Amino acid sequence: MLDVRGIRSGYGEVTILQDIDLSVDREIYAVLGANGAGKSTLLKTLAGLIRPTAGEIRVQGERIDGRTAYDIAAMGVGYVPQEHGVFPDLTVAENLSIGGLLGARSKADRLDEVFSLFPDLKDRLDQKAGSLSGGEGQMVAIGRALMQEPSVLLLDEPTAGLSPRYTDLLFRRIAEISREKNVSVVLAEQNAVSTLAFASNVHVLSLGITHLLGSPKEVTIDQVREGYHI
Ligand SMILES: Nc1ncnc2c1ncn2[C@@H]1O[C@H](COP(=O)(O)OP(=O)(O)O)[C@@H](O)[C@H]1O
Ligand SMILES: [Mg+2]
Repeated sequence: MLDVRGIRSGYGEVTILQDIDLSVDREIYAVLGANGAGKSTLLKTLAGLIRPTAGEIRVQGERIDGRTAYDIAAMGVGYVPQEHGVFPDLTVAENLSIGGLLGARSKADRLDEVFSLFPDLKDRLDQKAGSLSGGEGQMVAIGRALMQEPSVLLLDEPTAGLSPRYTDLLFRRIAEISREKNVSVVLAEQNAVSTLAFASNVHVLSLGITHLLGSPKEVTIDQVREGYHI
């Protein structure tokens, strides 16, 4: 599904990520690491907001690196940024509708699927997205990305700042999306403990390089935590 080889990426002259490989196949692939480790830089690179200076990114065998963010979205990569995932001045309905501009199936069918995942949104269609709670805002942001019917979904710390109850709910919905829609999810996360219980693979970044990579069965929480202390 998503295959990344030897990515180097950063901002201008500054290289942040070095030699990153990853392979995600209809699963929840968690990217962990301390603040500043490069998680958001990796997701921005996959989404085409930053162009990698080396390496290759493929979605279903097709190269996407070097293409525009719009083309990459149209090729099936949905992206929910760490911040500003919704248009605050637009309503919930308008936010979802914008996501629906891409994708083949009828918009009404796709909306129904978003509402079956996040029923609370149905009662808030006319509310400005900027006035929603943090958890509701994340649901709109994820719903908007799902309206594109992505095969790859990039989620940048969707549970940051949410209550444990909302975090749990969101994790369960993300698992449902991956399982039932066969979506390859790349999930950037801070919280190592809850992520190990939930993801099928974890990839720990430390100062922009891969510290550790494996399934939660193969890696220990202590090994993961080492990556946070460098
Ligand atoms: N727009 C930017 N310009 C220059 N450096 C940046 C920019 N955004 C992030 N960085 C730097 O890139 C590194 C990785 O940041 P980031 O990818 O946001 O990490 P994380 O998401 O893991 O917290 C940090 O050192 C950060 O200061
Ligand atoms: Mg980040």
